[in-house]
Amino acid sequence: MRLIFLGPPGAGKGTQAKLLTERYGIPQLSTGDMLRSAVAQQTEVGQRAKAVMDAGQLVSDEIVNEIVSDRIDAPDCAKGFILDGYPRTVPQAIALDRMLDDKGLKLDAVIELKVDEAALVRRMENRVAETVAAGGTVRSDDNPEAFRRRLEEYRAKTAPLSQHYASTGQLKTVDGMADVDAVTAEIERVLA
Ligand code: AP5
Repeated sequence: MRLIFLGPPGAGKGTQAKLLTERYGIPQLSTGDMLRSAVAQQTEVGQRAKAVMDAGQLVSDEIVNEIVSDRIDAPDCAKGFILDGYPRTVPQAIALDRMLDDKGLKLDAVIELKVDEAALVRRMENRVAETVAAGGTVRSDDNPEAFRRRLEEYRAKTAPLSQHYASTGQLKTVDGMADVDAVTAEIERVLA
């Protein structure tokens, strides 16, 4: 099973991808997590990405395309994978199509989570509160200014992907406003 999760920041892509990894026994490939790990390890990619991520902007297509292409080749992706947060621009989607073709792989579905914008801000605020309460480190892009920018980037560059995948017949839209378990059940239903 090879899936893509599409949706704005806070839509629940990461939450649902994690739940489905257990269900299908395939890894979650979160470009956000991979980039945050590169930043923490101060790799060359991490150093290039940090300021862009902190500002809520998108990292260059070239960087993320290369990260994803390498990651898909890892042995744990042999049975499939869930892309969480990639592709995020039309050029990334075109690069992914080419990448999968070159590797002889096919995408099974693109799941888009639809969520009201007002709920997204509340979810980000909840995540910050929960992280602080647990003594963790708050994401450097989980603040009002960076979040506003992340939403703008989504509207301008990522939202057009719905049309892209609708035209290939791979898009499945799910209501992301329901509670977590109900969203998971709906995703499983559309994949069945
Ligand atoms: P990334 O880490 O991908 O962040 P994001 O897309 O902004 O998404 P989030 O992680 O905030 O939200 P999510 O949809 O995963 O929701 P979650 O499940 O966490 O990217 C960060 C940055 O990295 C980007 O801004 C960019 O700079 C860079 N980047 C990454 N990929 C890139 C790419 N391909 N190209 C270029 N740059 C890239 O849920 C959010 C909260 O809501 C949680 O607290 C959760 O518990 C809660 N929640 C989830 N579901 C529900 C529900 N149904 N009801 C109530 N609460 C819920």
